[in-house]
Amino acid sequence: MVTAGAIANMQKQVSKRTELRMRDPAKDLAARILNRTIRVGIIGMGYVGLPLMLASVAKNIRVLGFDIDKEKVSALNKGKSPLKHFSDAKVAAACRDRLFEATIDMNRLSEVDIIIICVPHASRSAPGT
Ligand SMILES: NC(=O)c1ccc[n+]([C@@H]2O[C@H](COP(=O)([O-])OP(=O)(O)OC[C@H]3O[C@@H](n4cnc5c(N)ncnc54)[C@H](O)[C@@H]3O)[C@@H](O)[C@H]2O)c1
Repeated sequence: MVTAGAIANMQKQVSKRTELRMRDPAKDLAARILNRTIRVGIIGMGYVGLPLMLASVAKNIRVLGFDIDKEKVSALNKGKSPLKHFSDAKVAAACRDRLFEATIDMNRLSEVDIIIICVPHASRSAPGT
């Protein structure tokens, strides 16, 4: 059973964290990187974004991957790698361990602490360039 005292204690801890976040966002971010409570957003799950996601989850950093390609997002969430250089097993493990999820919903950018953009730019749109 959760006691009133335990709830009050949790509320105290949450307000302490919120206070630090407001007072010193950089320090708060650094602390959350170190204690692995940060969540990274990677936009573009291609040749750059996918290995970056795998490198992050290998360090126990949670990633929310964004892409406009619905099929790719759906495959990733089923543990399938869209690139032959990276095994399904690694993607599947990241999903299973709840370290990774992919989405097409850009509103979910509000859920992440850092955003890394890995999409093609206007002058070079061919994959892998
Ligand atoms: N691949 C390389 O070796 C390399 C090296 C250095 C720099 N870059 C740069 O990194 C960037 C990404 O390259 P890449 O090779 O990973 O590209 P890629 O084509 O392999 O992957 C891009 C991904 O972004 C998604 N995407 C496209 N527009 C989007 C949008 N508006 N919102 C969300 N997702 C979107 C695509 O569906 C795709 O899955 C490019 O700007 C490229 O110039 C790539």
